[in-house]
Amino acid sequence: MFVRGRRGRVPAALAFALVTLAAATLFSPPLSAQEPYVIDKPGSGAPIVTEPEIPAGSVSCLNCHQKLGITGSAIRDWKASKHSAAGIGCAECHYPVSAAPREIQAAGSVCPDPKVRRGVSPANCAECHADQAAQFERGKHSKAWLAMSAMPETYNQPHAIAGTKGCGGCHRIGLDSGKCDACHTRHLFSAAEARRPEACRTCHMGFDHPQWEMYDTSKHGSIYATEGDQWNFDRPVEQWFDQPNEAEWGRPRAPVCVTCHMSDGSHEVRTAWGFLALRLPEPDPEWMQYRAKILQGLGVLDEKGNPTPRLGMVVGGDLARLQAEDWGSERKKMLGVCSKCHAPSFGAAQMADADSIIKAADALMAEAITVVEGLYADKILKRPAFAPLAVDLLRFYEVENPIEQKLYTMFLEHRQRTFQGAFHMNPDYQHWYGWAEMKRDLIEIRAEAKELRERAGK
Ligand code: HEC
Ligand code: HEC
Ligand code: HEC
Ligand code: HEC
Ligand code: HEC
Ligand code: HEC
Ligand code: HEC
Ligand code: HEC
Repeated sequence: MFVRGRRGRVPAALAFALVTLAAATLFSPPLSAQEPYVIDKPGSGAPIVTEPEIPAGSVSCLNCHQKLGITGSAIRDWKASKHSAAGIGCAECHYPVSAAPREIQAAGSVCPDPKVRRGVSPANCAECHADQAAQFERGKHSKAWLAMSAMPETYNQPHAIAGTKGCGGCHRIGLDSGKCDACHTRHLFSAAEARRPEACRTCHMGFDHPQWEMYDTSKHGSIYATEGDQWNFDRPVEQWFDQPNEAEWGRPRAPVCVTCHMSDGSHEVRTAWGFLALRLPEPDPEWMQYRAKILQGLGVLDEKGNPTPRLGMVVGGDLARLQAEDWGSERKKMLGVCSKCHAPSFGAAQMADADSIIKAADALMAEAITVVEGLYADKILKRPAFAPLAVDLLRFYEVENPIEQKLYTMFLEHRQRTFQGAFHMNPDYQHWYGWAEMKRDLIEIRAEAKELRERAGK
């Protein structure tokens, strides 16, 4: 990397050494934004006046931050980025544009420059990347803060858990209308980084959505682990299969997350079944009965099957596909992805089998909900005063009875793994961590309910 100066190009390493020396002059008067980027040349006394490729508005940022020796990672990574090469400075992102969310505009800042905000929203990126910002806005990631904060118990957790550490550490991807650095991290903002599956794994892992673990140990992930180093991640995803029969080592021969989920390069991510594998309408009447029971367990339908105010959250957060066409168009796109490598009938059969597994899991789940509901109906479990709904799966672990803790893990851990494992070609997650655990949960729930009834004499 080179810094452009009046005397030609100065190697970055030299420029860096010079800047480090300049940092000793901590108490020199602050430079105005209009002044050129001045670096003192050691020995000569004559400053090297550079004409940086960054706009004047960002000169002061670099001068001051470098003198103070702060935010090294921001400066280093920005220097290595396409942004600095294209002459885009700090202020383009850190001075909020007028369309930026009110929360950012109104926030304070520890930076002496009063216009600077730490928070950067997609509104700033949209000045130059309107398409990506609009796609992101339409997709699921932009709804992530809403989904988390709409849960009944989020705000009963310690502040940091709802804020930056637990739930908020992942769901921040939707905070302030979106955090674009979730996949291409600041301040490198590299597209190649985001194309790699590791970009997704901090969030898509663990208890209720172990997509990373499932992918990593699937056949697809294993091929990536073996050969991925040699694949060309600088190439846009859409071009990976533009020559479907071309044998070229740089083209991924197994899919990574974005092959399947951002196949056309669009930031509008969404799947047919979604997180909870719920869809309406359901053409299969038997399956619809199980679905209705689960929706009651989630408090979206009341005991009589009528929608509750929670339906608003489902619609607002795009939590389930509510039109047959929406489900169908996502499914069609996914089948198109499988067909880039496999026979169309192979992909279709894999997907149909995974769908049938959701139905089988829902049958177990509906029975378990019915058993626990019966304990409430017969007043064996006490109805919590603070929650209008007896069985409320959205309260997660904030339930008092061990049998309900079991019901919650059956739903959020084991039912999820049963179908997610099927969709991510991971036989072990599908079976031993998913289905087998659901069977065990149901047996234990039945047995505990029986015991509770016997103890209560009912
Ligand atoms: C006169 C010195 C100075 C100038 C000029 C300056 N900064 Fe800062 N900046 C600081 C200091 C000092 C901090 C506080 C570091 C800390 O305590 O964490 C800071 C903090 C920041 C932060 C973190 C803010 C927060 O609330 O967390 C950002 C972002 C930032 N500066 C960006 C910029 C940008 C962009 C510019 C130019 C438009 C700029 N700075 C100009 C000195 C300066
Ligand atoms: C392409 C947009 C972009 C540019 C250019 C940019 N930043 Fe940032 N910066 C971000 C984003 C995004 C964040 C994360 C903000 C958030 O959490 O909402 C951030 C966060 C920061 C932070 C606070 C977080 C931390 O890790 O300490 C500092 C300080 C900062 N930037 C300084 C700078 C400086 C200095 C420059 C210029 C060398 C710069 N930024 C250029 C987008 C940018
Ligand atoms: C910072 C955390 C984070 C990162 C990184 C992240 N995601 Fe997500 N993702 C989420 C959250 C949270 C949701 C749920 C959004 C909501 O609440 O609506 C989600 C939802 C999704 C969905 C939608 C599922 C559905 O409901 O239909 C897909 C697909 C997805 N992510 C794929 C990816 C891929 C692929 C990557 C990497 C390129 C990635 N995500 C990176 C947090 C993240
Ligand atoms: C490790 C990161 C992580 C943590 C921690 C986390 N989530 Fe999530 N959450 C996600 C991801 C990723 C998804 C989407 C997964 C999928 O679709 O399979 C998601 C999905 C959701 C959804 C469903 C959104 C939808 O539209 O389908 C809700 C609601 C939710 N999370 C709430 C919470 C709450 C509340 C907490 C804290 C008690 C929390 N999450 C903790 C990453 C996380
Ligand atoms: C003032 C215009 C401007 C703003 C604001 C801006 N960018 Fe960029 N961005 C560019 C330009 C120019 C390029 C380089 C394009 C190229 O070289 O093909 C670029 C490239 C990128 C790339 C691709 C890098 C690569 O590896 O190919 C990403 C990712 C990116 N920007 C993300 C962001 C994000 C996220 C934000 C907001 C936080 C943002 N940009 C704000 C102008 C901007
Ligand atoms: C879920 C992960 C993820 C998030 C979040 C994300 N990106 Fe990207 N971004 C990607 C991937 C993957 C690519 C590569 C797409 C391709 O190859 O076509 C990419 C590419 C880009 C590019 C380069 C496009 C090009 O043609 O070179 C820009 C610009 C960009 N993203 C901007 C943004 C902006 C702005 C946001 C926030 C609104 C954002 N990204 C959020 C994953 C993400
Ligand atoms: C071979 C293609 C493929 C790969 C690779 C892949 N997925 Fe998926 N993913 C799917 C399919 C198929 C579904 C279910 C789609 C549907 O509902 O029809 C899915 C569903 C999801 C969902 C929604 C909940 C669920 O699990 O059913 C999320 C979130 C997700 N994937 C994230 C990821 C992440 C993150 C990675 C990488 C670690 C990844 N996926 C890798 C094909 C893939
Ligand atoms: C980039 C090419 C590519 C894409 C896209 C792709 N796969 Fe694969 N898939 C492979 C390769 C290569 C293997 C390893 C074949 C072997 O095991 O011999 C594989 C293996 C599998 C396996 C396990 C081995 C087997 O034969 O049973 C399943 C299941 C599978 N893929 C399903 C899917 C489904 C479903 C989709 C779409 C959601 C998909 N794949 C998308 C390349 C791809």
